[in-house]
Amino acid sequence: MKILGISAHYHDSAAALLVDGLPVAAVQEERLSRRKNDAAFPLAAAEWCLESAGLEPEGLDAVVFYGRPMLKFERILTTALRAWPQGRSAFTHAMKNSLGEKVWVRGLIQANLGVPAKKILFTEHHQSHAAAAFLTAPTDAAAILTADGVGEWATLTVGRGRRTPGGATSIELLREVRWPHSLGMLYSTFTAYLGFAVNEGEYKVMGLASYGTPRFADEVRKVVRRTADGAFALDLGYFEFHTTVRRAYSKRFMDAFGPPRASWDPIDLATEDGRRYADIAASVQLVLEEILVELAASLHHETGLPDLCFGGGVALNGVANARVLRESGFSRLFVPPAPGDAGCALGAALYADRIHFGQPDRPLPDHPFWGPEADGAELARIAGEDGLPVEELGDAALIARTVQDLTAGRIVGWMEGASELGPRALGHRSILAAPHSAETRDRLNRDIKYREEFRPFAPIVPAELAEDYFELPPGGLRLARFMSGVFPVKPQWRAALAAVTHVDGTARLQALERAMAPRLHDLLMAYGKASGVPVLLNTSFNLAGEPIVNRVVEGYSTFRRCGIDVLAAGGARVEKRVRTKVQAEAELDA
Ligand SMILES: [Fe+2]
Repeated sequence: MKILGISAHYHDSAAALLVDGLPVAAVQEERLSRRKNDAAFPLAAAEWCLESAGLEPEGLDAVVFYGRPMLKFERILTTALRAWPQGRSAFTHAMKNSLGEKVWVRGLIQANLGVPAKKILFTEHHQSHAAAAFLTAPTDAAAILTADGVGEWATLTVGRGRRTPGGATSIELLREVRWPHSLGMLYSTFTAYLGFAVNEGEYKVMGLASYGTPRFADEVRKVVRRTADGAFALDLGYFEFHTTVRRAYSKRFMDAFGPPRASWDPIDLATEDGRRYADIAASVQLVLEEILVELAASLHHETGLPDLCFGGGVALNGVANARVLRESGFSRLFVPPAPGDAGCALGAALYADRIHFGQPDRPLPDHPFWGPEADGAELARIAGEDGLPVEELGDAALIARTVQDLTAGRIVGWMEGASELGPRALGHRSILAAPHSAETRDRLNRDIKYREEFRPFAPIVPAELAEDYFELPPGGLRLARFMSGVFPVKPQWRAALAAVTHVDGTARLQALERAMAPRLHDLLMAYGKASGVPVLLNTSFNLAGEPIVNRVVEGYSTFRRCGIDVLAAGGARVEKRVRTKVQAEAELDA
């Protein structure tokens, strides 16, 4: 069967194509449209998926959308009517959006892809999250937890999944927490209050939390109360996101936590306000962790299963994930590379294949590389036209050359193979640098990523050596496969890994198994031989505000516009031309 999964209209639109139960292509719309967090109907992504598989839309057996638009519309309408007249602005906004696009998804899919209505299916949003988490994980039976801002009504679900190799699959969602009670909205509200962009700045709150002490935790526990059934409820007096689109938090929220931060105000931890922001971030982070640990622990108790699959945007919180792994009783925690809405395109397609059509279970390749390929020949052509000398090298020569670059303190743009699905660069669209000095980190922040200094960079290490440098609990290696957990750097290595060690001594490492990206693994080993430490700084290959680069042309343009010294794509390598004074004078004379 050929099934196209689609996620769209909220944030991070994506398309994913499944052929005979296995993914063959998946990509986020932003990687092709070059608009960060593009939420438009993913026409370019869908077309690329079909094209890369040599399919026409009429060859599809089904197109599956990652949520039920009518249910979502009902939720928006009901919420607005309940909150009337304060809800008027949210209602008007929802009417415009929903009637324009969301409700008429079926028509939109028909019009855009030319697929007949009877082939268009819908999953519930959290079914997509659950399928993306469970069916991509190498486990036959697992508890499932999903948590995000909101789908139709659900904001968090717990359940369990079971699959028989070659046989049937079941995904049973046992209970849900419903809008407006939402851990995703709780965290996003604090994100907005702290002056960061919602759906993007949540990482910054997590990074900032490490600088603070959770002295507002009791206050946050009033904002999100625990309920008798073991779930939670927001005290809606602190919020306005459910009644207006203008602001997420209420006056009462500001009375409790003080004036909000304006996005343009720098965070200066030497000032009282700066410390207050960090302390508030630490407090909401702590309370989120406590709730997730307790929910997971009771799910462990209820299911008796050793594995937990965790999906939804909240599963991007690596600090919370590490605590869930350590404290909930589960032996293994699987977080997919794209736990957020982009991954729902794949989740929806998998759900339709295994559950709706009852197709037999197939083990999925355990990697995130489903996007367009990076082509070294393209780099050779573009750089050649631009007048930069290109070296075309075999693997061993490229690795030796890149080790020289990295040990000399150069920053390397590294592109190979298919791009990652999800928000993280996991070795195919990365900026690499030596991990040793805080200077490299500062240079990356200043010249390339243009971002706040409190945001840490992440290390990448061969999986088999990870425990030499990082303190991993049992199961930690798995969580680090897709950078889904934050763990302590061993104290004796913190100085040598200063560029990738956060202020609290932790790192969000990627533990790379050779089979996942052999050439990068070889590079890490060769770098270890040369420097004594087989660890590199690995950050996503993009500039602030731009999506991760996709094709070589975008990698090259990024390389030209920022402080990256070297670009390697496939077997091609280019280096910024360093002009000597004599050369510059000669050019001027000419
Ligand atoms: Fe979601």
